[in-house]
Amino acid sequence: MTAPDLISPASAAFSRRRFLEASAVLAGALGLPEAATNEAAAQQKPAGGTPPNPPGRPHPLDPLTTEEIVRAVEIVRKTRQVDDTWRFVTITLAEPHKPAMKTFQPGGRISRAAFVIAIDRTKGQAYEGTVDLIKGSLERFDPLAAGLQPAITLDEFAECEEAIKKSPEFLAALKKRGATDVQLVMVDPWSAGTYGTELAADNGKRLSRALAWVRTEANDNGYARPLDGVVAVVDLNKMEVVRVEDYGVIPLPPEAGNWYRSYQKEFREAPQPLDIVQPKGPSFAVDGYEVAWQKWKFRIGFTPREGLVLHNISYTDAGRERPIIYRAAICEMVVPYGDPAERHYRKNAFDIGEYGIGMFANSLEMGCDCLGTIRYFDARMNDSKGQPVTIKNAVCVHEEDVGILWKHTDWRTNQSETRRSRRLSVSFVATVGNYEYGFFWYLYQDGNIQCEVKLTGIMHTTTVAPNEKPEFGNLVAPQLNAPFHEHIFAARLDMAVDGDENSIYEVNTVSLPAGSSNPYGNAFRAEQTLLAKESEAQRSVNGASARYWRIVNPNKKNRIGEPVSYRLIPGENAPPFVRLDAAVMRRAGFIAHQLWVTPYDPQQRYAAGDYPNQHPTGDGLPKYVTADRNLVNTDLVLWYVFGHNHVPRLEDWPVMPVATLGFQLKPDGFFERNPALDLPPAEKG
Ligand code: CO
Repeated sequence: MTAPDLISPASAAFSRRRFLEASAVLAGALGLPEAATNEAAAQQKPAGGTPPNPPGRPHPLDPLTTEEIVRAVEIVRKTRQVDDTWRFVTITLAEPHKPAMKTFQPGGRISRAAFVIAIDRTKGQAYEGTVDLIKGSLERFDPLAAGLQPAITLDEFAECEEAIKKSPEFLAALKKRGATDVQLVMVDPWSAGTYGTELAADNGKRLSRALAWVRTEANDNGYARPLDGVVAVVDLNKMEVVRVEDYGVIPLPPEAGNWYRSYQKEFREAPQPLDIVQPKGPSFAVDGYEVAWQKWKFRIGFTPREGLVLHNISYTDAGRERPIIYRAAICEMVVPYGDPAERHYRKNAFDIGEYGIGMFANSLEMGCDCLGTIRYFDARMNDSKGQPVTIKNAVCVHEEDVGILWKHTDWRTNQSETRRSRRLSVSFVATVGNYEYGFFWYLYQDGNIQCEVKLTGIMHTTTVAPNEKPEFGNLVAPQLNAPFHEHIFAARLDMAVDGDENSIYEVNTVSLPAGSSNPYGNAFRAEQTLLAKESEAQRSVNGASARYWRIVNPNKKNRIGEPVSYRLIPGENAPPFVRLDAAVMRRAGFIAHQLWVTPYDPQQRYAAGDYPNQHPTGDGLPKYVTADRNLVNTDLVLWYVFGHNHVPRLEDWPVMPVATLGFQLKPDGFFERNPALDLPPAEKG
C-alpha cells in the first residue's frame, strides 16, 4: 500500500462487521450455526457461478473452518485466562511440516492445529502459540521478545480513528487549519516503523503514526485534501493519543478529486455487450480446496497475512503427476517513499507483515471483478476479539481465453494449425487503505505459471503550498503532491521441480569478445553458473544479459540427457532507490537483492521476518542467509523480489488505471517437447 491508510479502515472493518451481523441473523433465522449457513449456501447455485466452497475431502492444508477458529480461541481463553482486554491478531492454520505431508494419503487421518498471535494489552506483551485442535490443548504460548509487535489489526484502524477524533490536541491542530467538522476527517493509522530516531518515551509502545485527510462532505474523496503536517502518535494498546506532532500549517488543496459514479458528469457511450459464456460449464473440477484443470492440480490456501496461497502445484505428464511448486505466495511487500521531510521519511508500509493483506481481501463481484464461469472461495479469519470473520468470495477461480497458444501454416502442403491459449486464473484483491492490490496466479496449458500483481486505487498524497513545485513527487492537482515511491513485493516459492531436491543456476547471455573464436562478431551464447551456496545466490536482475534463473532437478534427466528444470523469468523490476544504508533497510533488507535462495526451513517464511512491525533490528532474508548453507541438490526455496517504480502521473489521479508487474515460471527441458501439442483442434466457428 501505500498506505496503511485504510481507505476507510473504519468502513472496511464496519462493513465486515455488518456482514457478520447479517450472517448471524440469517443463521439465527434458519436455526443454524454460522458455518452451517455456509454449507447451506454451498448447496445453492448463485446466478452465473458455481456454488462456493463445496464440502470436499478434508486435507491437512485446508484453511481453518469457522468452528476451528472458535475452538482455538476457546482453548486459548480457557488455558491462559485470556479476557476481553486482549486482542487476537491472527488465528490461522498451523501448516503441517513437509515430512507429515509426504505420508498423507487422501482420506487419511489429519492433524489440525491453529497458529495464534495475541496481545495482552494491559501488559503490552504479545504472544504466539499453537493450539492442537484434535487434542483440544494449547501446545505452546510463548511471549514475543521485547519490542516485537504483531501486525496492526482492522479493529485498531477503526478505534484509532475514533481516539484521534476525540483528542483535544488533534482538534486544535484541525482548527488551526480551518477545518471545523471533525466528522469529515479520515484517519489512516500508518505503521510507526523504527528509524533510530524514536523518542525514549515511546520505547516498548505499540504505536501508529496516524495521518489524516479532510472530506468536504460525507462521500468526498478525502485523499484530495491531506491534512499535511499533522501526525498523531497513538498508543494502540491503551488506544490513546500520545502526542500530536505539528510540522506547520499548509493550506488545504482547493480541488475535489472524486471518482465515484455519482460525481461523474457524463459517461462515454458504453461498448456493446461482450459475453463470456461457457454453456457446458468450466473445465476445472474442485474437490474441497483442490482444483484440477487441464493436467494441472493444486490446492488453494488463504492466510490473513499473505492472502492467497497455492499449495502442491503439479502437472500430469504422460499419466505421471509431476510436482513443480510445494508452496507459493507473495510473502512480503514494502512501499518506500522518497520524501526526506521530517513528517514524511517514515512512510514505508509493509502491507503484508505490518497489516496482513489477507485481512483486507475484497468480496469479489461477478461481472465486475470476474467474468465467465466462476468458482469463488470464501476466506475465514478472525477479528481482534477472536470472533470469526468470513469474507465471501475472496478468491476467484476461472478460465480465460488469452489468444493464440501456437500456430503454423505450411504454405507448400497447406497444412495449417492454430491452438488458442486458455489459462486458469486464481486471484484475490485487497484494499489496503487508499490502494488496491490484485494478486493473480495464472496456469497455462504449455506448463507456464505466471504471477501478476495489479496496482490500482488511490495514490498516497501530501499537500504543498500554492505555487510550490514538489521536489520529491509530482503534482496531480493544484497543491496536491503524489510522492515518488516504489511498491516492492517478495514472492516465496518453495520449489519442487520433479521432486524436492533441486539446484539453482543463473543464465546470462553474453557476446564473445572479438578474436579467432568470434571472427565475424556475431557470436553470443547463454552461459549458466551454479549458485552453490546462499552467499552466491543473492542476485539482481540484469536486462543487459537477459538474465534468468533455472531451478534444476539434477536427479531427473530429459530425453536429451539434461536435467529437467523450470526457468524463473523476471518481468518489470526496479532496484530499491532508497540507499542501502537507509534506516528503513534494517527492516526492508530483503529488497537489496531480487533473487535470494535458501534451503527449506519451515521457520523461514517471511522475507522481512515474522514481526517487521516496529522490529528494532530487522529480520528475515539477510539473517536467514548468514549460515551460508548449501543449495546444491537440496530442498530449495526461491525468494523473488520485484518492484514497481511509481513516478506519479496526472493520469493516475483521482484513481489509478491498473499497473501490472510480476514474473513467470516456464518449463525448460521439463517436458520432452511442446506439452500443448496434444491440444485438440478447435471447431471452426
Ligand atoms: Co503507487
